[in-house]
Amino acid sequence: MREQVVCKTTDIQPGQMMESVFGKQDVLVCRTPDGDFYAFRNQCTHQGAPLHKGMMCGATTEQSEPGEYQYCHRGEIIRCPWHGREFDIKNDGRMLANPDKKLPSFKVRVENENVIVYK
Ligand code: FES
Repeated sequence: MREQVVCKTTDIQPGQMMESVFGKQDVLVCRTPDGDFYAFRNQCTHQGAPLHKGMMCGATTEQSEPGEYQYCHRGEIIRCPWHGREFDIKNDGRMLANPDKKLPSFKVRVENENVIVYK
């Protein structure tokens, strides 16, 4: 099994993400508001944008009316910086608009203060 420390738990606050590396691959390490860590390939499946330059946000619900947005999954969605495609962190990186597509993901565990990515 290959594994690597990609950052310290204190490097990312809940609701934030950062760029790191796993071997020769760029990875995106995300920390959701509940404090859990996730890691994905740091490259949008559309045209390859570096996702760490996007944002973590929420999704609007189906109950939203024009001009009155209701949000869910706050801090659990990655929004691509180039064309706005959105990926659900807690649903295996699946694209909201097309769940058949997803970001390649990595397993993550925390030991002491180390965030470790592994295959
Ligand atoms: S490169 Fe991410 S939406 Fe186009």
